[in-house]
Amino acid sequence: MAKYKIAWLPGDGIGVDVLEAARVVLDKIQLDAEYVRGDIGWEFWRQEGDALPPRTIELLKISDAALFGAITSKPAKAAAAELSPALQKQGLSYRSPIVRMRQLFDLYICLRPCRAYPGNPLNYKEGIDLVVFRENTEDLYAGVEFAPVPQELAQVLGKIARPFAPFARLAPDQYGISCKINTRAGSERLVRAAFEFARKHKRKKVTIVHKANVVRATDGLFLEAAQAVAKDFPEIPMDDANVDAMTMWLLKNPFNYDVLVAPNLYGDIISDLCAQMVGGLGFGCSGNIGTQLAVFEPTHGSAPKYAGQSKVNPIATILAVKMMLDWLGEISKAAALDQAVAQVIQERRVRTYDMGGTSTTLQMAQAIAEQFEANNKVLISEVA
Ligand code: IPM
Ligand code: MG
Repeated sequence: MAKYKIAWLPGDGIGVDVLEAARVVLDKIQLDAEYVRGDIGWEFWRQEGDALPPRTIELLKISDAALFGAITSKPAKAAAAELSPALQKQGLSYRSPIVRMRQLFDLYICLRPCRAYPGNPLNYKEGIDLVVFRENTEDLYAGVEFAPVPQELAQVLGKIARPFAPFARLAPDQYGISCKINTRAGSERLVRAAFEFARKHKRKKVTIVHKANVVRATDGLFLEAAQAVAKDFPEIPMDDANVDAMTMWLLKNPFNYDVLVAPNLYGDIISDLCAQMVGGLGFGCSGNIGTQLAVFEPTHGSAPKYAGQSKVNPIATILAVKMMLDWLGEISKAAALDQAVAQVIQERRVRTYDMGGTSTTLQMAQAIAEQFEANNKVLISEVA
Protein backbone atom coordinates (compact mmCIF):
# COMPACT_ATOMS: atom_id res chain seq x y z
CA MET A 1 0.00 0.00 0.00
CA ALA A 2 1.22 3.49 -0.82
CA LYS A 3 2.27 5.72 2.07
CA TYR A 4 -0.12 8.54 1.12
CA LYS A 5 -3.57 8.74 -0.37
CA ILE A 6 -3.96 11.96 -2.35
CA ALA A 7 -7.39 13.09 -3.56
CA TRP A 8 -6.88 14.21 -7.15
CA LEU A 9 -9.37 16.94 -8.06
CA PRO A 10 -8.68 18.50 -11.48
CA GLY A 11 -12.07 20.23 -11.75
CA ASP A 12 -12.77 22.40 -14.77
CA GLY A 13 -10.96 24.13 -17.62
CA ILE A 14 -7.22 24.52 -17.17
CA GLY A 15 -7.51 22.73 -13.82
CA VAL A 16 -7.14 19.58 -15.93
CA ASP A 17 -4.03 20.91 -17.75
CA VAL A 18 -2.20 22.03 -14.63
CA LEU A 19 -2.91 18.84 -12.70
CA GLU A 20 -1.54 16.82 -15.61
CA ALA A 21 1.59 18.95 -15.29
CA ALA A 22 1.69 18.38 -11.53
CA ARG A 23 1.60 14.65 -12.16
CA VAL A 24 4.68 14.83 -14.40
CA VAL A 25 6.56 16.39 -11.50
CA LEU A 26 5.16 14.06 -8.83
CA ASP A 27 6.06 11.00 -10.87
CA LYS A 28 9.64 12.21 -11.17
CA ILE A 29 9.80 12.88 -7.44
CA GLN A 30 8.60 9.34 -6.83
CA LEU A 31 6.36 10.28 -3.96
CA ASP A 32 5.02 7.07 -2.45
CA ALA A 33 1.40 8.00 -3.09
CA GLU A 34 -1.82 6.73 -4.55
CA TYR A 35 -3.71 9.43 -6.47
CA VAL A 36 -7.47 8.94 -6.36
CA ARG A 37 -9.50 11.00 -8.78
CA GLY A 38 -12.49 12.81 -7.32
CA ASP A 39 -15.48 14.31 -9.12
CA ILE A 40 -15.79 18.06 -8.68
CA GLY A 41 -16.86 20.99 -10.82
CA TRP A 42 -19.34 22.43 -13.22
CA GLU A 43 -20.40 19.20 -14.97
CA PHE A 44 -21.45 17.72 -11.64
CA TRP A 45 -23.45 20.85 -10.86
CA ARG A 46 -25.25 20.61 -14.20
CA GLN A 47 -25.89 16.87 -14.14
CA GLU A 48 -26.35 16.24 -10.41
CA GLY A 49 -27.06 19.66 -8.94
CA ASP A 50 -23.94 19.38 -6.78
CA ALA A 51 -20.46 20.57 -7.75
CA LEU A 52 -18.99 18.71 -4.77
CA PRO A 53 -20.87 15.39 -4.70
CA PRO A 54 -21.06 13.33 -1.47
CA ARG A 55 -18.72 10.65 -2.93
CA THR A 56 -15.99 13.29 -3.23
CA ILE A 57 -16.54 14.36 0.37
CA GLU A 58 -16.17 10.70 1.39
CA LEU A 59 -12.92 10.49 -0.59
CA LEU A 60 -11.58 13.59 1.17
CA LYS A 61 -12.39 12.02 4.54
CA ILE A 62 -9.98 9.16 3.86
CA SER A 63 -7.28 11.16 2.09
CA ASP A 64 -4.07 12.56 3.57
CA ALA A 65 -4.20 15.60 1.32
CA ALA A 66 -5.83 16.83 -1.87
CA LEU A 67 -4.60 18.58 -4.96
CA PHE A 68 -7.27 20.73 -6.54
CA GLY A 69 -7.15 22.38 -9.99
CA ALA A 70 -9.85 24.95 -10.62
CA ILE A 71 -13.60 25.36 -10.84
CA THR A 72 -15.87 27.33 -13.09
CA SER A 73 -18.32 29.41 -11.05
CA LYS A 74 -21.18 31.56 -12.28
CA PRO A 75 -23.58 33.94 -10.51
CA ALA A 76 -26.63 32.30 -8.94
CA LYS A 77 -29.13 32.90 -11.77
CA ALA A 78 -26.76 31.88 -14.57
CA ALA A 79 -25.81 28.74 -12.63
CA ALA A 80 -29.45 27.75 -12.08
CA ALA A 81 -30.17 28.24 -15.80
CA GLU A 82 -27.50 25.69 -16.74
CA LEU A 83 -28.88 22.87 -14.61
CA SER A 84 -30.08 19.85 -16.58
CA PRO A 85 -33.86 20.12 -17.26
CA ALA A 86 -34.74 17.46 -14.67
CA LEU A 87 -33.07 19.52 -11.93
CA GLN A 88 -34.52 22.90 -12.85
CA LYS A 89 -36.87 24.73 -10.47
CA GLN A 90 -36.07 22.59 -7.45
CA GLY A 91 -34.56 25.49 -5.57
CA LEU A 92 -30.99 24.19 -5.96
CA SER A 93 -28.43 26.91 -5.43
CA TYR A 94 -24.82 26.82 -6.54
CA ARG A 95 -22.17 27.03 -3.84
CA SER A 96 -18.46 27.23 -4.48
CA PRO A 97 -16.92 23.79 -3.85
CA ILE A 98 -13.67 25.24 -2.56
CA VAL A 99 -15.49 27.35 0.02
CA ARG A 100 -17.50 24.27 1.00
CA MET A 101 -14.38 22.12 1.37
CA ARG A 102 -12.84 24.79 3.61
CA GLN A 103 -15.90 24.79 5.85
CA LEU A 104 -16.73 21.07 5.84
CA PHE A 105 -13.19 20.07 6.78
CA ASP A 106 -12.44 23.10 8.94
CA LEU A 107 -9.45 24.06 6.78
CA TYR A 108 -8.99 27.19 8.85
CA ILE A 109 -5.64 28.35 7.50
CA CYS A 110 -5.30 29.66 3.99
CA LEU A 111 -1.55 29.85 3.52
CA ARG A 112 -0.32 31.82 0.52
CA PRO A 113 3.41 32.24 0.16
CA CYS A 114 4.41 34.87 -2.41
CA ARG A 115 8.10 34.81 -3.25
CA ALA A 116 9.75 36.54 -6.19
CA TYR A 117 11.92 33.86 -7.76
CA PRO A 118 15.09 35.54 -9.04
CA GLY A 119 14.99 36.19 -12.75
CA ASN A 120 11.22 35.94 -13.16
CA PRO A 121 10.47 38.68 -15.70
CA LEU A 122 7.07 39.18 -14.07
CA ASN A 123 8.44 40.16 -10.65
CA TYR A 124 7.25 43.56 -9.52
CA LYS A 125 10.54 43.86 -7.65
CA GLU A 126 13.27 41.29 -7.10
CA GLY A 127 13.53 40.00 -3.54
CA ILE A 128 9.86 40.19 -2.50
CA ASP A 129 9.08 37.43 -0.03
CA LEU A 130 5.68 37.65 1.63
CA VAL A 131 3.51 35.04 3.31
CA VAL A 132 -0.22 35.56 3.73
CA PHE A 133 -2.16 33.77 6.46
CA ARG A 134 -5.81 34.19 5.58
CA GLU A 135 -8.59 33.02 7.92
CA ASN A 136 -10.48 30.49 5.83
CA THR A 137 -13.85 29.54 7.31
CA GLU A 138 -15.46 32.61 8.89
CA ASP A 139 -15.95 36.30 8.19
CA LEU A 140 -18.00 37.31 5.13
CA TYR A 141 -17.57 33.75 3.86
CA ALA A 142 -19.67 32.34 6.71
CA GLY A 143 -22.52 32.01 4.20
CA VAL A 144 -25.12 33.64 6.45
CA GLU A 145 -26.82 35.86 3.89
CA PHE A 146 -30.28 37.18 3.19
CA ALA A 147 -31.76 38.51 -0.05
CA PRO A 148 -34.64 39.14 0.21
CA VAL A 149 -34.34 40.01 3.89
CA PRO A 150 -36.94 38.20 6.07
CA GLN A 151 -39.31 40.56 7.89
CA GLU A 152 -38.52 38.79 11.13
CA LEU A 153 -34.86 39.73 10.87
CA ALA A 154 -35.64 43.30 9.84
CA GLN A 155 -37.90 43.69 12.86
CA VAL A 156 -35.25 42.54 15.30
CA LEU A 157 -32.58 44.74 13.71
CA GLY A 158 -34.96 47.69 13.81
CA LYS A 159 -35.34 47.16 17.56
CA ILE A 160 -31.74 46.59 18.55
CA ALA A 161 -29.62 48.54 16.03
CA ARG A 162 -30.17 52.27 15.63
CA PRO A 163 -28.10 52.50 12.39
CA PHE A 164 -30.57 50.09 10.82
CA ALA A 165 -33.28 52.81 10.67
CA PRO A 166 -32.68 53.89 7.03
CA PHE A 167 -32.96 50.29 5.86
CA ALA A 168 -36.02 49.38 7.93
CA ARG A 169 -38.26 51.22 5.47
CA LEU A 170 -37.15 49.18 2.47
CA ALA A 171 -39.10 46.36 0.88
CA PRO A 172 -37.50 42.95 1.60
CA ASP A 173 -36.31 42.50 -1.98
CA GLN A 174 -34.73 45.94 -2.17
CA TYR A 175 -31.71 45.11 -0.08
CA GLY A 176 -29.49 42.25 1.06
CA ILE A 177 -27.65 41.35 4.23
CA SER A 178 -24.41 39.33 4.36
CA CYS A 179 -23.23 38.61 7.87
CA LYS A 180 -19.58 39.04 8.72
CA ILE A 181 -19.01 36.60 11.55
CA ASN A 182 -15.63 36.37 13.26
CA THR A 183 -15.05 34.33 16.38
CA ARG A 184 -12.40 34.86 19.02
CA ALA A 185 -11.31 31.21 18.85
CA GLY A 186 -11.21 31.26 15.04
CA SER A 187 -9.16 34.44 14.99
CA GLU A 188 -6.78 33.26 17.70
CA ARG A 189 -5.96 29.92 16.11
CA LEU A 190 -5.16 31.56 12.78
CA VAL A 191 -2.95 34.21 14.35
CA ARG A 192 -1.22 31.55 16.43
CA ALA A 193 -0.48 29.51 13.31
CA ALA A 194 1.04 32.60 11.68
CA PHE A 195 3.26 33.33 14.69
CA GLU A 196 4.34 29.71 14.91
CA PHE A 197 5.25 29.82 11.25
CA ALA A 198 7.20 33.05 11.80
CA ARG A 199 9.08 31.49 14.71
CA LYS A 200 9.88 28.29 12.83
CA HIS A 201 11.05 30.06 9.68
CA LYS A 202 12.74 32.96 11.46
CA ARG A 203 10.59 35.57 9.74
CA LYS A 204 11.13 39.13 10.85
CA LYS A 205 7.63 40.44 11.49
CA VAL A 206 3.92 39.64 11.65
CA THR A 207 1.46 42.27 10.39
CA ILE A 208 -2.24 42.08 11.25
CA VAL A 209 -4.48 43.41 8.48
CA HIS A 210 -7.94 44.68 9.45
CA LYS A 211 -10.35 47.59 9.32
CA ALA A 212 -10.96 47.85 13.03
CA ASN A 213 -11.50 51.61 12.94
CA VAL A 214 -14.78 51.12 11.04
CA VAL A 215 -15.78 47.47 11.30
CA ARG A 216 -15.38 47.49 15.04
CA ALA A 217 -17.30 44.47 16.29
CA THR A 218 -15.58 41.87 14.13
CA ASP A 219 -12.26 43.38 13.08
CA GLY A 220 -11.89 44.89 16.53
CA LEU A 221 -12.21 41.39 17.94
CA PHE A 222 -9.75 40.01 15.38
CA LEU A 223 -7.17 42.64 16.32
CA GLU A 224 -7.70 42.06 20.04
CA ALA A 225 -7.29 38.32 19.58
CA ALA A 226 -4.08 38.93 17.63
CA GLN A 227 -2.66 41.17 20.33
CA ALA A 228 -3.39 38.52 22.95
CA VAL A 229 -1.67 35.76 20.95
CA ALA A 230 1.33 37.99 20.19
CA LYS A 231 2.18 38.00 23.90
CA ASP A 232 3.22 34.35 23.57
CA PHE A 233 5.77 35.29 20.90
CA PRO A 234 7.66 38.19 22.47
CA GLU A 235 10.68 37.77 20.16
CA ILE A 236 8.61 38.38 17.01
CA PRO A 237 7.69 42.01 16.28
CA MET A 238 4.03 42.58 15.41
CA ASP A 239 2.32 45.56 13.86
CA ASP A 240 -1.06 46.14 12.26
CA ALA A 241 -2.59 48.18 9.47
CA ASN A 242 -5.93 48.96 7.94
CA VAL A 243 -6.53 46.89 4.83
CA ASP A 244 -6.90 49.88 2.50
CA ALA A 245 -3.65 51.46 3.66
CA MET A 246 -2.05 48.03 3.49
CA THR A 247 -2.57 47.81 -0.27
CA MET A 248 -0.74 51.11 -0.71
CA TRP A 249 2.07 50.25 1.67
CA LEU A 250 2.58 46.86 0.11
CA LEU A 251 3.13 48.39 -3.29
CA LYS A 252 5.27 51.21 -1.96
CA ASN A 253 7.44 49.28 0.49
CA PRO A 254 7.02 45.53 -0.01
CA PHE A 255 10.25 44.91 1.86
CA ASN A 256 8.80 46.32 5.08
CA TYR A 257 6.48 43.32 5.33
CA ASP A 258 6.91 39.64 5.93
CA VAL A 259 4.05 37.56 7.37
CA LEU A 260 0.59 39.09 6.83
CA VAL A 261 -2.44 37.87 8.78
CA ALA A 262 -5.98 38.77 7.81
CA PRO A 263 -9.64 37.83 8.17
CA ASN A 264 -11.05 35.89 5.23
CA LEU A 265 -12.13 38.58 2.74
CA TYR A 266 -9.22 40.97 3.31
CA GLY A 267 -6.91 37.97 3.02
CA ASP A 268 -8.55 37.04 -0.28
CA ILE A 269 -7.87 40.54 -1.59
CA ILE A 270 -4.35 41.14 -0.34
CA SER A 271 -3.23 37.66 -1.39
CA ASP A 272 -4.11 38.52 -5.00
CA LEU A 273 -2.09 41.70 -4.70
CA CYS A 274 0.87 39.82 -3.24
CA ALA A 275 0.66 37.14 -5.94
CA GLN A 276 0.67 39.80 -8.63
CA MET A 277 3.86 41.27 -7.18
CA VAL A 278 5.65 37.95 -7.70
CA GLY A 279 4.43 37.06 -11.17
CA GLY A 280 0.66 36.94 -11.09
CA LEU A 281 -1.71 34.08 -11.78
CA GLY A 282 0.96 31.67 -12.90
CA PHE A 283 2.72 31.87 -9.55
CA GLY A 284 -0.04 32.10 -6.91
CA CYS A 285 -0.23 28.92 -4.85
CA SER A 286 -2.36 28.17 -1.85
CA GLY A 287 -2.78 25.68 0.96
CA ASN A 288 -6.12 25.25 2.71
CA ILE A 289 -4.97 23.66 5.92
CA GLY A 290 -6.82 22.04 8.78
CA THR A 291 -5.74 19.61 11.46
CA GLN A 292 -6.77 16.43 9.60
CA LEU A 293 -6.75 17.41 5.95
CA ALA A 294 -5.20 19.99 3.66
CA VAL A 295 -6.23 20.95 0.13
CA PHE A 296 -3.62 22.53 -2.12
CA GLU A 297 -4.43 24.56 -5.21
CA PRO A 298 -3.19 27.17 -7.65
CA THR A 299 -5.18 30.34 -6.99
CA HIS A 300 -5.91 31.05 -10.64
CA GLY A 301 -9.33 30.14 -11.97
CA SER A 302 -10.39 27.67 -14.63
CA ALA A 303 -9.75 30.05 -17.60
CA PRO A 304 -12.03 28.10 -20.00
CA LYS A 305 -10.61 29.88 -23.05
CA TYR A 306 -7.22 28.21 -22.49
CA ALA A 307 -8.59 24.80 -21.49
CA GLY A 308 -6.94 21.79 -23.10
CA GLN A 309 -4.32 23.85 -24.93
CA SER A 310 -1.35 23.13 -22.64
CA LYS A 311 -0.73 26.87 -22.64
CA VAL A 312 -0.93 28.17 -19.09
CA ASN A 313 1.89 28.33 -16.59
CA PRO A 314 1.88 25.28 -14.28
CA ILE A 315 4.29 26.81 -11.76
CA ALA A 316 1.48 27.89 -9.40
CA THR A 317 0.31 24.27 -9.24
CA ILE A 318 3.85 22.92 -8.94
CA LEU A 319 4.40 25.28 -6.02
CA ALA A 320 1.13 23.98 -4.54
CA VAL A 321 2.65 20.49 -4.86
CA LYS A 322 5.70 21.79 -3.00
CA MET A 323 3.42 23.03 -0.20
CA MET A 324 1.71 19.64 -0.13
CA LEU A 325 5.07 17.90 0.25
CA ASP A 326 5.85 20.17 3.22
CA TRP A 327 2.50 19.37 4.82
CA LEU A 328 3.06 15.64 4.36
CA GLY A 329 6.42 16.01 6.08
CA GLU A 330 8.43 15.33 2.91
CA ILE A 331 10.61 18.32 3.70
CA SER A 332 13.68 17.45 1.65
CA LYS A 333 11.61 16.62 -1.42
CA ALA A 334 9.77 19.92 -1.00
CA ALA A 335 13.01 21.88 -0.75
CA ALA A 336 14.47 20.09 -3.77
CA LEU A 337 11.36 20.83 -5.82
CA ASP A 338 11.50 24.48 -4.81
CA GLN A 339 15.12 24.61 -5.90
CA ALA A 340 14.31 23.03 -9.25
CA VAL A 341 11.56 25.62 -9.85
CA ALA A 342 13.96 28.43 -8.93
CA GLN A 343 16.63 27.10 -11.29
CA VAL A 344 14.28 26.74 -14.26
CA ILE A 345 13.00 30.29 -13.74
CA GLN A 346 16.50 31.68 -13.36
CA GLU A 347 17.77 29.85 -16.42
CA ARG A 348 15.25 31.61 -18.68
CA ARG A 349 15.27 28.78 -21.23
CA VAL A 350 11.72 27.55 -20.71
CA ARG A 351 9.00 30.17 -20.48
CA THR A 352 5.25 29.97 -20.81
CA TYR A 353 3.30 32.70 -22.60
CA ASP A 354 2.71 34.80 -19.47
CA MET A 355 6.49 35.00 -19.02
CA GLY A 356 6.94 36.10 -22.62
CA GLY A 357 7.80 32.68 -24.04
CA THR A 358 6.23 29.93 -26.13
CA SER A 359 6.77 26.86 -23.95
CA THR A 360 3.75 24.72 -23.19
CA THR A 361 2.36 23.77 -19.80
CA LEU A 362 3.86 20.30 -20.13
CA GLN A 363 7.24 21.57 -21.34
CA MET A 364 7.51 23.75 -18.25
CA ALA A 365 6.57 20.82 -16.01
CA GLN A 366 9.04 18.55 -17.78
CA ALA A 367 11.83 21.11 -17.43
CA ILE A 368 11.21 21.33 -13.67
CA ALA A 369 10.96 17.55 -13.33
CA GLU A 370 14.24 17.08 -15.23
CA GLN A 371 15.98 19.74 -13.18
CA PHE A 372 14.82 17.94 -10.03
CA GLU A 373 16.20 14.68 -11.38
CA ALA A 374 19.51 16.25 -12.44
CA ASN A 375 20.00 17.80 -8.97
CA ASN A 376 19.17 14.47 -7.38
CA LYS A 377 21.80 12.67 -9.46
CA VAL A 378 24.45 15.18 -8.38
CA LEU A 379 23.38 14.65 -4.78
CA ILE A 380 23.60 10.86 -5.08
CA SER A 381 27.04 11.00 -6.74
CA GLU A 382 28.26 13.36 -4.00
CA VAL A 383 27.11 10.97 -1.29
CA ALA A 384 28.63 7.93 -3.08
C1 IPM B 1 -9.57 32.24 -3.71
C2 IPM B 1 -10.75 32.45 -4.63
C3 IPM B 1 -12.01 31.88 -3.97
C4 IPM B 1 -12.27 32.72 -2.73
C5 IPM B 1 -13.24 31.82 -4.86
C6 IPM B 1 -12.98 31.00 -6.10
C7 IPM B 1 -14.45 31.31 -4.14
O1 IPM B 1 -10.87 33.79 -4.97
O2 IPM B 1 -9.31 31.10 -3.32
O3 IPM B 1 -8.91 33.23 -3.38
O4 IPM B 1 -12.94 33.75 -2.79
O5 IPM B 1 -11.79 32.34 -1.66
MG1 MG C 1 -9.23 34.96 -4.30
